Amino acid sequence: MAVQAAKTAAELILSDSDKQKSVNYKGRTDLVTHTDKKSEQMICTVINESFPDHGILAEESVPHLPNANYQWIIDPLDGTTNFVHNYPSFAVSIGVHYKKSPVVGCVIEISSNNIFTAIKKEGAFCNNNPITVSSEKDLQKSLLVTGFGYKHGDKWKANMNLFKSFTDITQGVRRLGAASVDLCHVACGIVDGFWEFDLHPWDTAAGILILLEAGGIITQMDGKGYDIFQNQILASNGQIHGAMLKNIKPIIDSLNH
Ligand code: IPD
Ligand code: CA
Ligand code: CA
Repeated sequence: MAVQAAKTAAELILSDSDKQKSVNYKGRTDLVTHTDKKSEQMICTVINESFPDHGILAEESVPHLPNANYQWIIDPLDGTTNFVHNYPSFAVSIGVHYKKSPVVGCVIEISSNNIFTAIKKEGAFCNNNPITVSSEKDLQKSLLVTGFGYKHGDKWKANMNLFKSFTDITQGVRRLGAASVDLCHVACGIVDGFWEFDLHPWDTAAGILILLEAGGIITQMDGKGYDIFQNQILASNGQIHGAMLKNIKPIIDSLNH
């Protein structure tokens, strides 16, 4: 059902991608289009029809049944800025959580039509083929990815410093602009680690399960346990996690002072 809903939304987004976009602003650089809203409506209609007693936490709407055991957590268009500019990194992300724990995840990376899926304890897949994280152990040989949120405060500045320091000591840091896709890229082993500040539950609800089922590790940037309501994340293949934490520590410490 999650995959079906995501596919329907992905078709809509693809068909809107070469049309004139109607853009509104939630902040100076925080864009939302008519397509974000249509996609969300489509997904919510499918869920409400099949699971009227399930909760929905979707980016563009008020939460529905927030105390229900099953919660569908939806980013109807992750990477809206890319979508508006036709830069090919944007996605639909649908995660299902049961009693706050992720049980199903689906992210469709629209330009490549890569369909990433996971069910708890059943592994992670891309287009129905099993995926695993990379086996890279050496941070110096790693490729990383990060993102920058819309608030240009202390954490944003700290992330500029992290971007600089990781670029200096790895094989590179990418910044594509769709957090759900970034997580799936770690899950399928084409990048080795991802971190970001100021994310929302809908950015990570699906991707975290895909990454965990692919063998990855997720914590906060100080190494503490992560859940989707924490606004910073460190996700990796597990092998380089300790080295990433060590390099992040001074910058996290400086933020806390
Ligand atoms: C954004 C993307 C981006 C991340 C931002 C998110 P949106 O989501 O995931 O990669 O850096 O923090 O808000 O606004 O395009 O759904
Ligand atoms: Ca998003
Ligand atoms: Ca979005």
